[in-house]
Amino acid sequence: MAQTTEVLVFGSAIIDFICYTSRLPKPGETLHGHRFQTGYGGKGANQCVAAARQGSRTALVAKLGADTFGGDYLRQLREEQVNVEHVQQLEGQTTGVAQIAVSDDGENNIIIVVGANSQLSPSDVNKADKLFQEAKVLVCQLETPIEATLTALKSFQGVSIVNAAPAMENTPQELLQLASIFCVNESEAALMTQMVKIETVEEAQEAAAKLRKMGANIVIITLGKLGAIFGTCDPKDGYQHVPAPQVPPEKVVDTTGAGDAFIGALAHNIARHPKNKMRDHIVAACQVASQSVQLPGTQASFPRT
Ligand code: RIB
Repeated sequence: MAQTTEVLVFGSAIIDFICYTSRLPKPGETLHGHRFQTGYGGKGANQCVAAARQGSRTALVAKLGADTFGGDYLRQLREEQVNVEHVQQLEGQTTGVAQIAVSDDGENNIIIVVGANSQLSPSDVNKADKLFQEAKVLVCQLETPIEATLTALKSFQGVSIVNAAPAMENTPQELLQLASIFCVNESEAALMTQMVKIETVEEAQEAAAKLRKMGANIVIITLGKLGAIFGTCDPKDGYQHVPAPQVPPEKVVDTTGAGDAFIGALAHNIARHPKNKMRDHIVAACQVASQSVQLPGTQASFPRT
C-alpha cells in the first residue's frame, strides 16, 4: 500500500542561473563574474526537496513550461523522490527562471521571471484534493498567485506554513490568519511591518509582535547567522530567540536557498515529530540551514540525512 504524504508543497519551481562574483553589482555596473552554474530552484520546489532530503514523504503541486527546462526539472524531482503527480508542464508557457548573483561573502540578489508558475490556480487545489486530505503539513510561498495560495490554505486541515517570500507590501490579512505558522526573514518582516530595519534580536521580536497583531498565529522570523525568533499564541511564551550554529565566515559560500532549507526542515520535523516543542523544530531547521550555506547552489547545497 502506498504510504501517505507527510509534507505537501503548493508553490513554485524555477530554474536558477547563478553567477558567482567578487561582490554584488551596483546599479548600472557590469562586473566580471568568476563562475556560472545552473540549478533547480524556486522556493516551493526548494522547500519540498529540502523536506524530502530530511526523509519526509513529499508531494509538490506546481507548474512548469513544456520546454527542456520543464522536462529536466520533472526528472530531477522524481530523482529526489518527490511525488510529481500534480506537477504539470504547460504548453505555450516557459518554465520560470531566476537570475541570481552571489558574492564571495555568500550574499545574493535574485530576480525571478515566474513564467508557468503564474498559472497555478485555485482549481489545482481541487485537483489535488486527495493530497490535501492526507498531508500532515502544507507549505506555501508567494511566487505563485495569491488567490490559489489562499484557496490551498482554506482547504487544508493540518499544520500550514506560509513562507511570505518574496514579501508583499500589502499582504492580505487573511494570509496571516489562515497560516498556522507564518515565517519571514528579516527584510521581509521589515517590509511588512514598515520598520526601517531589523538587524537585532530585539528588533525582530518587535516585528514579530506586530505580525501577531496583524493576525498571524505562530510567527517565525529568520535572522541569518543570528538564527531565528518565534512567538506563539501563548503570551507566556514571549518571543524566544533560537541561536544558529556558528559557521566561520570563511566557510559561508552561498546563502541562496538557506531560508528554503530552513522551511523544508521545519515542515519535516513538524510532520515527523508533531509532539515536539516549536523551539526544537526551529533548532533542527537552523541546523539544516547552516549546513546549506557552506555549499554553493540552492538545492545542490541541501543536506541529506
Ligand atoms: O530562495 C531561493 C530561491 O528564490 C531560488 O532558488 C530562486 O529560484 C528564487 O525562487
